[in-house]
Amino acid sequence: MTDHTEPEIRKGLAGVVVDYTAVSKVNPETNSLLYRGYPVQELAATQPFEAVAHLLWSGELPTAEQLAELRRMEREHRALPRRVQEAIDLLPLEAHPMDEVRTALSVIGAFDTAGAGSVLDASGSPEENLARSIRLYAALPAVVAYGQRRRRGQEVVAPRDDLDYAANFLWMTFGEEPDEVVVDAFNRSMILYAEHSFNASTFTARVVTSTLSDLYSAVVAAVGALKGPLHGGANEAVLHIMHEIGSAENVVPWLERALAEKRRIMGFGHRVYKKGDSRVPTMKAALDTLVAHYDRPDVAELYAALEREFVSRKGIYPNLDYPSGPAFDLIGFDTLTFTPLFIASRVTGWTAHIMEQAASNALIRPLSAYNGPDERHISGYVPDEAEIAAAERPEEAG
Ligand code: COA
Repeated sequence: MTDHTEPEIRKGLAGVVVDYTAVSKVNPETNSLLYRGYPVQELAATQPFEAVAHLLWSGELPTAEQLAELRRMEREHRALPRRVQEAIDLLPLEAHPMDEVRTALSVIGAFDTAGAGSVLDASGSPEENLARSIRLYAALPAVVAYGQRRRRGQEVVAPRDDLDYAANFLWMTFGEEPDEVVVDAFNRSMILYAEHSFNASTFTARVVTSTLSDLYSAVVAAVGALKGPLHGGANEAVLHIMHEIGSAENVVPWLERALAEKRRIMGFGHRVYKKGDSRVPTMKAALDTLVAHYDRPDVAELYAALEREFVSRKGIYPNLDYPSGPAFDLIGFDTLTFTPLFIASRVTGWTAHIMEQAASNALIRPLSAYNGPDERHISGYVPDEAEIAAAERPEEAG
């Protein structure tokens, strides 16, 4: 039974503007994405991921001194904490890697906020929240790298102080000094995934923050939202599709069958961008450098063939996950590690939003329209305790 007054329901909050943000601007008309005013492709072409993290948190690109200081703090926290490793080791090897990262973040948070007192105290000052953001961003590569190594039966690799963020991330994952071309492509992917306004996981983080809960709880909740296949996870699915197709000459028959079966082709389409994803050209260029580096023209051929056929038939364009899936695969990441890589990058955007929300907070609490039964009252038969006890042991009843 619906309410008598018919409110306007916006399912999925589609089209609803919830608040201001100064962190990023998505413009689907011009296919542009700005982080604090800077086009993301300019940032990816010129900046290390560390500088973009600083930009998202503080609003400005860092000076040399600020970047050096951020790198110093990042190096201080980049080793896998022993107790986090122990917590991960308690999980079954078959645990979903997103659950593994979510658990690790929870453990880091519980050690940091232990003794903080009330929930209000744990919400932290801006300075504390920035320090916590840096700690999470610094620790995540170790957590993600260890997850992949653990599944492969390999030992943890200690970080290297002589390497910057992206190179050290690859070092801790593979235990080999990465090539400059690979570091550059990986750095670009981290920048492209860092921030995207009020997407589901970022909004989740803001909702949790709005209750004055702590930064770790907000990030852990965001991981839960990202885990869903309608949000994170599509880059993983792109790889599955590419394996299914096999090679470029199979694209047409595969696609005809898939479309006849009304399948979703992962890595294409976007809720906001309808004329193409602003991040794709930059990530595709990074993929091209990896294709050349690893001498895998077959990957580029399959990529181009599927894009050509799908776009010409459906007019739906690739999103960031389309080029990043094969790029992560060429670098050597397991498909299961792709969405955790997204976390390692997006934690910067999430925490920038958490701090923005905390700075001008209003409890996020929308209204709902009731469509359950009309008011009614308990009358007539109500089972008593003896009947419930008998129902719990039906074998004794006979
Ligand atoms: N493959 C096949 N058809 C697709 C499609 C895809 N990847 N993306 C959209 N469509 C079709 C839908 O089937 C629908 O067709 P219909 O009107 O005939 O039913 C139409 O396009 C509109 O789709 P809809 O799901 O309503 O649009 P949306 O804006 O809500 O969808 C996504 C956005 C991202 C959920 C959707 O494009 C999708 O599922 N993409 C694949 C998953 C993916 O890559 N996600 C990562 C996003 S960054």
